[in-house]
Amino acid sequence: MSLFPMFLRLEKRRLGGAVAADGEALGREGVNSPPAPATANAPAPGSCRRWGSQSAGLVARQSAKVYLVGAGPGDPELLTCKAARLLAQAEVVLYDALVSSEVLAMAAPEATLVDVGKRAGRKLLTQDEINGLMVDYARRGKMVVRLKGGDPMLFGRAGEEMQALREAGVPFELVPGITAAVGAAAAAGISLTDRRVASQVLLTTFSRGDSGPFPGGLNWAAITRETTVAIYMPGVQYGEVAARLIENGVAPETPCAVVSHASRPEQQVLRLTVGTLRDELRLPAPSLLLVGRVAAEDLTQWNAGLRPGALEPARGEEGAGRNN
Ligand SMILES: C[S@@+](CC[C@H](N)C(=O)[O-])C[C@H]1O[C@@H](n2cnc3c(N)ncnc32)[C@H](O)[C@@H]1O
Repeated sequence: MSLFPMFLRLEKRRLGGAVAADGEALGREGVNSPPAPATANAPAPGSCRRWGSQSAGLVARQSAKVYLVGAGPGDPELLTCKAARLLAQAEVVLYDALVSSEVLAMAAPEATLVDVGKRAGRKLLTQDEINGLMVDYARRGKMVVRLKGGDPMLFGRAGEEMQALREAGVPFELVPGITAAVGAAAAAGISLTDRRVASQVLLTTFSRGDSGPFPGGLNWAAITRETTVAIYMPGVQYGEVAARLIENGVAPETPCAVVSHASRPEQQVLRLTVGTLRDELRLPAPSLLLVGRVAAEDLTQWNAGLRPGALEPARGEEGAGRNN
């Protein structure tokens, strides 16, 4: 059964924005075929904004296709040029809760916007329903942007959505975005792989619990003295997160940073140590926790205060990371 009529009433949130004027043809290739060479669509350097600032009504009809697009951490200037262009040209935008209103405002005024977001346990639509919507709109000949916070391929269920599109025979394309860990690192001035103290970055979450396909959760053995850990969806129970890190061998003195609303006007950065993380911090979601020696407030802390042996390198890792 088509989900289309059921969701029509959800979709009429209008925001500012406009439509690209040049009506360039988008790729009409097969499923997940590579994008056209960059030169075909590339805006002139520094001219990204033109995609969101042209008058409406001049866009040529786009081919039916779904673009899984990364919206970045919130600042609209952190969108890729390609994301901005597609957003300005889309006939339908299916967006998640974490997409900022400034980014949404870059959609065309006549585009249909559908909030498919899930936030704090309040599910608007199931994943199957979202998949159904993408397929329905594409089959109606629409150019669809499926807009996801950060990068669609990181904690974004892009895999399930690509599978649904592939099975339905709907052409799609992926457009990466700046993931929250990278946005948060920039906000906090943290070099995630600073070669003096880090050799690897682990992007992870505790939010999947122990009931998923990987019972037992995180691979703690992968965390060494040289690991920077980016914890997505830490929730607000920072005390619990700290306890979990410490019971699995992370020294309480390990520096960390909580970054809330990275790249947005309400951005906040708190630098602490794992041992001083507390529930009372109450930094508003979305927030992300960066843990590791790279998060030290000043260079003198990098090698101080780490419990000897707590984060010993795994066998064979000594010397890693010297060349970058
Ligand atoms: C479901 S995950 C989606 C991640 C997204 N696909 C990405 O690549 O960033 C949502 C989590 O990303 C993090 N996040 C997203 N935007 C953020 C921001 N602007 N500041 C801090 N954390 C953010 C938070 O940990 C949030 O709970």
